[in-house]
Amino acid sequence: MNKRIYTQLILDTKNDVSKCTSSYIKDIFDVEVKTCDNLIEYAKVIDDAVLHRWFSKHWQNKMKKWKYSGVALIDEVNSLKPRAVLDVGCGYNEFRGKIDNLIGIDPYNKNADINVGIMDYRSTEKFDVILALGSVNFGGRNKIISEFSRMVTMLADGGTMFFRVNPGVQNSAPEARWIEYFPWNVPFIIELASMFNLKVLDIHDDTNQRKYFVYKKK
Ligand SMILES: C[S@@+](CC[C@H](N)C(=O)[O-])C[C@H]1O[C@@H](n2cnc3c(N)ncnc32)[C@H](O)[C@@H]1O
Repeated sequence: MNKRIYTQLILDTKNDVSKCTSSYIKDIFDVEVKTCDNLIEYAKVIDDAVLHRWFSKHWQNKMKKWKYSGVALIDEVNSLKPRAVLDVGCGYNEFRGKIDNLIGIDPYNKNADINVGIMDYRSTEKFDVILALGSVNFGGRNKIISEFSRMVTMLADGGTMFFRVNPGVQNSAPEARWIEYFPWNVPFIIELASMFNLKVLDIHDDTNQRKYFVYKKK
């Protein structure tokens, strides 16, 4: 749930869903969405539309700038000799052809191998390596834990997950105004490890206040 969007909807409509008209939604959030039965549903579809607009039209990649979680990962991942690698939220899919046996998924960027979000991706295959570089970062704690849990399910025993996260720094671009960045921190990274029986192999501060960390499935 994007609390920022939901709170705005409650304040503006006084919890009356009939006031949530398409012109109101266009005025405030600058997106078009389907009609919904309640404000929780509206918050969800508006959040998806806002993320879609941002990541398909405005956000640009800067893979070279990361000290740990960019190009340095190519050798690091290939040295594990993975049979299958999943790049969750691959963006421009810059690891394609560079990391072995890679599939890039992304719901909003057309350069992905498959245009799908992590919660809707279905695979019978287990992955030796899963990357989530800036992609498990949007919405509240429950959404983050659900996405994380799905990734753990798709990770093979002994497999490795590499993360880059934003600790909640808001992007100042007007188009990113309604995006809710989850405030990742070290205690939460460690809490997830104990919740999902993972080992934390590495944690570093990366460029631009981002955190880089690595888990291994026991
Ligand atoms: C900050 S960008 C990072 C892209 C790429 N991983 C990189 O490091 O350049 C975050 C990416 O996550 C994608 N994303 C957002 N929500 C997602 C979801 N639920 N499942 C998978 N990808 C998602 C966005 O479309 C976007 O391409």
